[in-house]
Amino acid sequence: MKHIIAPSILSADFANLQRDIEMINQSEADWFHVDVMDGVFVPNISFGFPVLKAVKAHAKKPLDVHLMIVNPEKYIQEFVDGGAAILTVHYEACTHLHRVVQMIKNAGCKACVALNPHTPVGLLKDILTDLDMVLVMSVNPGFGGQQFIHQAINKIIELRQMANEIHPELIIEVDGGVGISNIESLIKAGANAFVAGNAIFASSNPTQMIADLKNVDARSQQI
Ligand code: DX5
Ligand code: ZN
Repeated sequence: MKHIIAPSILSADFANLQRDIEMINQSEADWFHVDVMDGVFVPNISFGFPVLKAVKAHAKKPLDVHLMIVNPEKYIQEFVDGGAAILTVHYEACTHLHRVVQMIKNAGCKACVALNPHTPVGLLKDILTDLDMVLVMSVNPGFGGQQFIHQAINKIIELRQMANEIHPELIIEVDGGVGISNIESLIKAGANAFVAGNAIFASSNPTQMIADLKNVDARSQQI
């Protein structure tokens, strides 16, 4: 399967959100990546339900909703009702992660767990087969436009090896500092879904940048 490109609307122009959503609709992008930040789990506040619902009203592709919030279990149903197709919670934000994952799945949504840069992938071993996707953070969450943390590549390799043994269909998504200069090595490491904010929206031609990210061909390099 070809890799997935998920533009992050955190880097969109919020005064022209409908225009930027249409750009993504018309592009080769696969999903909309929607970053929800609460100012507690991460040192930034982004947006909540009203913006999610506005995106949902215009988006013609699945919403990949990344919750950077404490106590995400309180809001699972509301995010699913608001249009999430994939719901990501942070490992570091969930004491009872298994229960939260089951809540997401019981609500009819695909379940993903995100790992901060310092969190080892091995901690997901006993829950991996319950997940549709793991999100490997390649920056500390909270802001767009940060520099890629190289150790993420080793984490992806380790996670793909673990998944090959017990859950080969697992999607591995990478989020933070992803762009045309590193996407090939991330594919080669075993990731197959890519969030990109700054790389797309700071580009002079966002539609073309999405196409470039989508059409990178790392088949010859795959391990
Ligand atoms: C960071 C967010 C990312 C962010 C990525 O906390 O989770 O999704 O929008 O932005 P770039 O691609 O600019 O690093
Ligand atoms: Zn994100």
